[in-house]
Amino acid sequence: MSSRLSQLPLVAANWKMNPTNVEDALDLVRGVLSVARGHADRVESVIFPPFPWLLSVSEVVAESGVKLGAQDCFWEASGAYTGEVSPAMLTGWCQWVIVGHSERRVHLGETDEMVAKKAAAALANDLSVIMCVGELSEHYDAGTSDQVVSAQVRAGLANLSADDSARLVIAYEPVWAIGSGKSADPEHAYMTMRLIRRVVGELIGAGAARKVRVLYGGSVTAANVESYVELPLCDGCLVGGASLKAEEFAQIVRVTNEVYGHR
Ligand code: PGA
Repeated sequence: MSSRLSQLPLVAANWKMNPTNVEDALDLVRGVLSVARGHADRVESVIFPPFPWLLSVSEVVAESGVKLGAQDCFWEASGAYTGEVSPAMLTGWCQWVIVGHSERRVHLGETDEMVAKKAAAALANDLSVIMCVGELSEHYDAGTSDQVVSAQVRAGLANLSADDSARLVIAYEPVWAIGSGKSADPEHAYMTMRLIRRVVGELIGAGAARKVRVLYGGSVTAANVESYVELPLCDGCLVGGASLKAEEFAQIVRVTNEVYGHR
């Protein structure tokens, strides 16, 4: 393990709006549990089911070392916010939350400012946060990925301090790579993850830049995960489609373990 890594590599399963019934959700989590549990002291595995399955999945993963997270949260603690879930409601039985996923930015109009508020509220409620950033294909084609991603990171960190860095993860997910089967060229991913760490350093300090974990996400599979997790500044991956296949996700955990074991 590199000396920079004081924390474990992270492999996150973003199930999105799947599966559509609790039996399938429980089958899926049981399918990954033995491998994820067997590697829990070397790879941090986190499952992000849809809200209605969180409670049932929490019972399966309890005491296993496998962590649980929500795919979103609101920034207020309670009140007249129909349909929202506050970080305080997740604390205690979820350890993690995703904020700023591109599907929420695109389909639900989530802004950088909202993402920043969500991140700060989640961290203040003892949750660990995966904040997602990434450029659209038009930015990639125009060569403006760096500007877009650094602006998202700057805005997302607006309410945070160095004290938050140990529980903050930034997932670089080029939007054109998500669910498309077109995973990013590892060199592009590396350069962008390096940029993200530099921006974190500028905003909340060099110590924070070392502590924050940075993930790659976007069409990660068992076949290509090695090319990302072997990148020097990459601390793991955020997996969507491939996390819905228990054996494939288990293999992603195994490969990550192997790669980090040799660092
Ligand atoms: P994907 O999704 O692995 O299906 O591309 C990743 C994500 O959206 O987090």
